[in-house]
Amino acid sequence: MVSFFGKTIVSFFFMGFVELGNARFLSDFQWKQQKMNYSTVYVDPSGRGNFSTIQSAIDFVPQINQNWICIIIKAGQYREQVKIPREKPYIYLKGEENGKTIITWNAHDSIATDATFTSEADNTIVESIIFINSYNYPPKSNKNPRAVAVAAMISGDKSVFYKCEFLGLQDTVWDVQGRHYFKLCTIEGAVDFIFGNGQSIYESCTISVNAGALDGLVGYITAQARSNPKDGSGFVFRNCNVFGSGQTFLGRPWRDYARVIFYGCSISDVITPQGWDAGRYVGKEKQLTFAEGSCKGMGSSTSKRVSWEAKLSQQELQQLTSLSFIDNEGWITKQPLKVLL
Ligand SMILES: *[C@@H]1O[C@H](CO)[C@@H](O)[C@H](O)[C@H]1NC(C)=O
Ligand SMILES: *[C@@H]1O[C@H](CO)[C@@H](O)[C@H](O)[C@H]1NC(C)=O
Repeated sequence: MVSFFGKTIVSFFFMGFVELGNARFLSDFQWKQQKMNYSTVYVDPSGRGNFSTIQSAIDFVPQINQNWICIIIKAGQYREQVKIPREKPYIYLKGEENGKTIITWNAHDSIATDATFTSEADNTIVESIIFINSYNYPPKSNKNPRAVAVAAMISGDKSVFYKCEFLGLQDTVWDVQGRHYFKLCTIEGAVDFIFGNGQSIYESCTISVNAGALDGLVGYITAQARSNPKDGSGFVFRNCNVFGSGQTFLGRPWRDYARVIFYGCSISDVITPQGWDAGRYVGKEKQLTFAEGSCKGMGSSTSKRVSWEAKLSQQELQQLTSLSFIDNEGWITKQPLKVLL
């Protein structure tokens, strides 16, 4: 069964590439619950579960954990800062019902300590959870001055986020480092709201721009931090829907060799015609890999893009946007949630 799935992924992925633009094909996937021997505990604030807070359930997982443990979280709003520490791999955090488990906190100013959710461990799965940093969110009803306010900080390797939402204004998702797969997630923000040195694919995600809250300033979706040409990191947006209020760039570099690709995405006129900003790296634009391929929508025209936007060959695009960019060893298929493309 496993090798069957493995082969299917490889050949279907190639077809997916060829047929990109066929949204039905790409959304036609299944997650399979593998028959895996993992234990389950329940978080329920009413006291009818094993734990009443999410953090107490994580604290219960042994150090250097070796077996998958599923933590199912009852629908509700949880006001807590949640952290999966480095030494607790194999945690599968799951909202009981999609869209109904919300974790919210409002710390701000420090990207290092203020994230609502911090995930440091390798082999982590998160499904159907909404993470909010409410310091500047929702922007319309919020009077706080704009500040760094991270909703999620992800620094473990081999991490999958499925049907999650990350909501904020500035620095919403710190995709710190490691290989990450985001599928059917929503990420909302205005300034550098997906940033860091992660090696990540954002597949079929909603990129919701709330730059209308910036009083005329132009926002930035990404601030990627690849710092040398040998680093495998980069943000790949595949089949995503990019829209929202105000105006935004697709990205600006955080480090010298930043790499970001929008591929097969629907892009509204929320994107400025220039597309990208060189920020502090004016004069070093050749080192950046900011590219687009096969996108559609009002904001996808590349005729007025900055002259230094990377022009990648079909082969380079295929290499960078296929699942092998983050997984050439099958780690995703070894996890208890299986994706078929
Ligand atoms: C599942 O784990 C339990 C406890 O560790 C063990 O007793 C049982 O044999 C395992 N079952 C399978 C099918 O591996
Ligand atoms: C969780 O609660 C269930 C139901 O009360 C119980 O059967 C199970 O043993 C508990 N698990 C742990 C790890 O306490």
